[in-house]
Amino acid sequence: MAQLWGGRFTKETDQLVYRFNASISFDQKFYRQDIEGSMAHVRMLAKQGILTEAEKEQILQGLEGILADVETGVLPITDQYEDIHSFVEANLIDRIGDAGKKLHTGRSRNDQVALDMRLYTREEVIETDGLLKKLLEVLLRIMEAHTETIMPGFTHLQKAQPITLAHHMGAYFEMFKRDRLRLSDIHERMNYCPLGAGALAGTTYPLDREYTAELLGFHGPMLNSMDAVSDRDYLIEYLSALSTIMMHLSRFCEEIIIWNSNEYRFVEIDDAYSTGSSIMPQKKNPDIAELVRGKTGRVYGALMSLLTTLKGIPLAYNKDMQEDKELVFDAIDTVKGCIALFTGMLDTITFCKERMNDSARCGFTNATDAADYLVCRGVPFRDAHGIIGRLVLYCIEQKKALDDLSLEEYKAVSPVFEEDIYEAISMETCVNRRLTIGAPGKEAMEKVIAACREYLKG
Ligand code: ARG
Repeated sequence: MAQLWGGRFTKETDQLVYRFNASISFDQKFYRQDIEGSMAHVRMLAKQGILTEAEKEQILQGLEGILADVETGVLPITDQYEDIHSFVEANLIDRIGDAGKKLHTGRSRNDQVALDMRLYTREEVIETDGLLKKLLEVLLRIMEAHTETIMPGFTHLQKAQPITLAHHMGAYFEMFKRDRLRLSDIHERMNYCPLGAGALAGTTYPLDREYTAELLGFHGPMLNSMDAVSDRDYLIEYLSALSTIMMHLSRFCEEIIIWNSNEYRFVEIDDAYSTGSSIMPQKKNPDIAELVRGKTGRVYGALMSLLTTLKGIPLAYNKDMQEDKELVFDAIDTVKGCIALFTGMLDTITFCKERMNDSARCGFTNATDAADYLVCRGVPFRDAHGIIGRLVLYCIEQKKALDDLSLEEYKAVSPVFEEDIYEAISMETCVNRRLTIGAPGKEAMEKVIAACREYLKG
C-alpha cells in the first residue's frame, strides 16, 4: 500500500477501507492522459522558473520511461497503489529520486483528476464521432442504391403510404447527423483546462495556466478554480448524447428485428451477425440487434446514476466524484461497441426488394392517392375519402388490392374514375409525385442525397 498522504496519519488504513477508497482498478484507464498532463505541468513549471531546466528534463525523461514501460507491459499497473496518480508519482520517484518529488508542485489530485478525465473524454468524443461518420457512410450507400426500392411507410405500425428504402434510411441519416452535432457542441464546451485550480482555491505559485492549457490543446483555462475541480457537466452532456445515440440505434434495431421476422421478411441479416438456437434448428436470430436494443438501458442507467450522484454535492471536490469513472467508461465502451457492430450488421444486410414492394402494394398504401385522384377531378376531399373507404372495404371482402379492381368495379362506386386511375395509384406514381423537399419522390430524394454526400465530405 503506497499512499501519498501518510504524514498526518498515525494508524494504517484498514484493508477494507483502503480497497473501498482506491480507484486504481479503473482509473488506470487514463494512465496516458495522466502522464501527458504531468508533462505539460512540468514544462509550465520550468518556464515559470519554479523548476530548473535540468529538473524538467529529468522528470520528462522519467515520465516518458514510465509511459513506454506501461505500454509495453514491462511496468504493470498493480493495486498496491491507491490510484493512477499515486502510481505514476511513486514510480517516478523510484526512477529519478528527488526531482520526482517536485512533480506535484502547485497541483492537487483534484485538478489532476479533473484534467485526466477531461482529456480522456475529449478523445472519446472524437472517436464516437468517427464511428458515427462510418455509420453515416453506410447509410448513404444504401440510400444511393435504393431511391426506387418501394416499401410501405408505417404509422402505428400499420401500413400508411408508400415510401422508398432510401427515404427510410434517410430518416436515420438525419438522426445520426444530429448526434454528431451534439458531440461537436460538447467538445467545444468542455475544451477548457482545469489544471492550476489546485485543490479548490488556485495556488500560491506563479503558474501560467494559459500556457498549460495551450500545451494540452485546450481553448484556455477554466475561469473559476472551484468550478474547475468540481465540474462534471461535460460528462452529463456526453452521457446524454450517448443515450440519444443508443435510443436511435435501439429504434433502428427494433425495425430490423421486425423486418427480419418471418412475417415481414423485408431483410435478411447476414449469417455473421445472426445466431442459431440450441434447440430449434430452423432459427436464425437477430441477437446483435436485440443486444444493442438491450444495452440502451445500461447507458440510460449511467446518465441517471451520475445525475443522482452529483445532485447533492457541495462545492468543491468531494470523493463522490470518483464514482463518475466506471459509469462513464462503461457507457463509452458500450456505445462504441454498439455503433461499430450495428454498422457492420447494416453494411452486410440484404434488403428483399420484392417483398417490400409487394407489401406496399397489398396494404392499401395508395388509398390516399386514390382519393387525391378524385379530388383532382372535382370531388371534394371529404367525399373522395368516403368513396375510397367504401372501395377499400370492398377490396378487403374480395381479397384484392386497389390496383386489381376492374374499371367497372371502380365506376360502380363513382363515375369519375377513368382508365388513368391505374397509373395514378401505381406505387411509382404515389412515391414520385411526392416532390417537396424531404419527401420520398426520386427527384427530391436525389437532392437530399447530394446534400448528404457533401456533408460527409466535410
Ligand atoms: N481518485 C480520485 C477521483 O477519482 C482522485 C482525486 C482524489 N482527491 C482527493 N482529494 N482524494 O476523484
